[in-house]
Amino acid sequence: MDTVGKVIRCRAAVAWEPCKPLVIEEIEVAPPEAQEVRIKIVATALCHTDLYFLYERGRREGFPAVLGHEGAGIVESVGPGVTRFKPGDKVIPLFVSQCGECRFCLNPSTNQCDKSWSSQRPGKRYDVSSDTTSRLKCRGKTLLQYLGTSTFSEYTVVNEVAVAKIPDSAPLDKVCLLGCGVATGYGAAINTAKVQPGSTCAVFGLGGVGLATVMGCKAAGASRIIAVDVNKDKFPKAKVFGATDFVNPKDHDKPISQVLAEMTNGGVDFSFECVGSVEVMRGALESCIKGWGVSVLTGYNDSQDMSTRCLQLLAGRTWKGSLFGGYKSVESVPRLVGEYMEGKLQLDEFVTHTLPLDRINEAFDLMINREGIRTVLHLSTH
Ligand code: APR
Ligand code: ZN
Ligand code: ZN
Repeated sequence: MDTVGKVIRCRAAVAWEPCKPLVIEEIEVAPPEAQEVRIKIVATALCHTDLYFLYERGRREGFPAVLGHEGAGIVESVGPGVTRFKPGDKVIPLFVSQCGECRFCLNPSTNQCDKSWSSQRPGKRYDVSSDTTSRLKCRGKTLLQYLGTSTFSEYTVVNEVAVAKIPDSAPLDKVCLLGCGVATGYGAAINTAKVQPGSTCAVFGLGGVGLATVMGCKAAGASRIIAVDVNKDKFPKAKVFGATDFVNPKDHDKPISQVLAEMTNGGVDFSFECVGSVEVMRGALESCIKGWGVSVLTGYNDSQDMSTRCLQLLAGRTWKGSLFGGYKSVESVPRLVGEYMEGKLQLDEFVTHTLPLDRINEAFDLMINREGIRTVLHLSTH
């Protein structure tokens, strides 16, 4: 390996400023330091959180940055002290870490590791220039490693607590989806809601996250899965993943919670918000049956407050959130890859577009125009 220990020059899509197209640049990727792994990214999908950073959150967090957090690749080299990985291993970089040692990792009921990128760098995330932990540079400037992963680059460097080792036979252009969206939705149903066999579920929003939630509800044995979306074109795909009923809120004059209550004799057992809208979060909660209904939100929104009347909870409903599907990342992602390889979990059906890295802005446009489900970028042909 003639690159080991050296700076690698490679291509990456750099976000220089908010709301502007990304620019394909030659960047410098430093060698991995202690406990770090340098990864050659082979494929990466785009997720709405990348779009959100570019247009909303990034205004506060700083540019330039390399986005991307749904990738898969091959280990190029490892830093001192790394024993779990070696060059050539297939891996998925993770935006939720699992160090195995912090109080959250030691508690079986959560995946909120203290070593995650977001908890590790409070105060530094706003000032990229003082952030010495990024390994990426371009034109003399340090590039923010968005979510610690930066998969819109031919090479990236990630701490080993945020890397999952996967089987050599795994197709990277499919299993990359397990780096965020599919794991998020599937786990929201299985781990966070703990959907029961024979139950009735409602899934609000049928993008990648919502479809994965439908798949999770089905895998958990739900007998009725009501797919809710304002875009009726999403319904056929939801059926492929197991949805049994389809509701477009635009077809009704009354609140969606009332529509669902009438369809289900009082409300659904489990509901899921997969949109990122506080209005939909409220509607999803209030669509649950009193007494035992559980509503899980997976959609991301950090600019508005959620609200409901307290009676909704006093009456016995539970409101929960799910990050990365509640999965303890390092140990769970290889298991999910295994489920895909055994045919128990669908991934291919999510991929509606494939493009090379240098057409990444077209992939962003597809997301902005809500076309397709997931676009996978191929970064490397070998
Ligand atoms: N009611 C129901 N569905 C809605 C509504 C609404 N009021 N508004 C929008 N939708 C639908 C859209 O038509 C679309 O099909 O929600 C779906 C959202 O899908 P995507 O935009 O493809 O988003 P996705 O990638 O699935 O992510 C959903 O999860 O991780 C978060 O940041 C992500 O907040 C986002 C959410
Ligand atoms: Zn931890
Ligand atoms: Zn994501």
